[in-house]
Amino acid sequence: MRFDVVSIFPEYLAPLDLSLIGKARTEGLLELAVHDLRSYTADRHRTVDDTPYGGGAGMVMKPEPWAQALTDIAVASPVAEGAKPTLIVPSPAGEVFNQQLAYQLAEEQHLVFACGRYEGIDERVLEWAADQYTVRPVSLGDYVLNGGEVAVLAMVEAIGRLIPGVVGNPESLIEESHSDGLLEYPVYTKPSSWRERDVPDVLLSGNHGKIAKFRKELQLRRTAERRPDLIDALDVSNVSKAEKNVLWELGYAVVDGKAVRRGDA
Ligand code: ADE
Repeated sequence: MRFDVVSIFPEYLAPLDLSLIGKARTEGLLELAVHDLRSYTADRHRTVDDTPYGGGAGMVMKPEPWAQALTDIAVASPVAEGAKPTLIVPSPAGEVFNQQLAYQLAEEQHLVFACGRYEGIDERVLEWAADQYTVRPVSLGDYVLNGGEVAVLAMVEAIGRLIPGVVGNPESLIEESHSDGLLEYPVYTKPSSWRERDVPDVLLSGNHGKIAKFRKELQLRRTAERRPDLIDALDVSNVSKAEKNVLWELGYAVVDGKAVRRGDA
């Protein structure tokens, strides 16, 4: 898989040399290049921004340096003839990034990230780029960052770790938050008793069936408490009797494969 990142602050992406993603690059599991947008400018001042038409605060990124950068990257794309690389434009105005989108993007052969700064990139760049790319404006969440670089760090890590071989133990990808629509269960390590707090007995029992049931119950409880929106989205058509009871206790009835708040049923 290949990643290209375009930014006016290429140094911002330095953490991608470290840890699991850095190691995966060294091992050739993924290829990643960072490009300085200013190297695609043609003027003496290497200008990348200008004032917005229609007025308003701040500056807008000029289209031409982007067109030069994105054309160069598309020409060198490893995707097959007729296929398009995906252009991700981090923006608070995009679709929200989540684990499902991370899984989807991890299937792609070539992802290109266009880091906007200031008030954003001239909108015509996104329209024009659609000839060469599948263009997806993507947001990390409902808050505003100063630019796309931090969002790219988060997305490359979330996507990169799903590439086979990047995470040493693939089991850890199965049992983590959001992989099954629920938050992860709490984890404990030695000592079994610490500052008068004991690890739940069942985890010391060696009974794997009981442990799995206990953990699933904790997942449901934690998710209902912290992220009730995830319970609303859950497919519960195949839940066990015990899980149905937990949901009932948490205030939900199972109706047509959905967990419905009992007051609303
Ligand atoms: N750029 C600025 N804010 C952003 C956000 N919330 N997500 C992605 N990119 C951004």
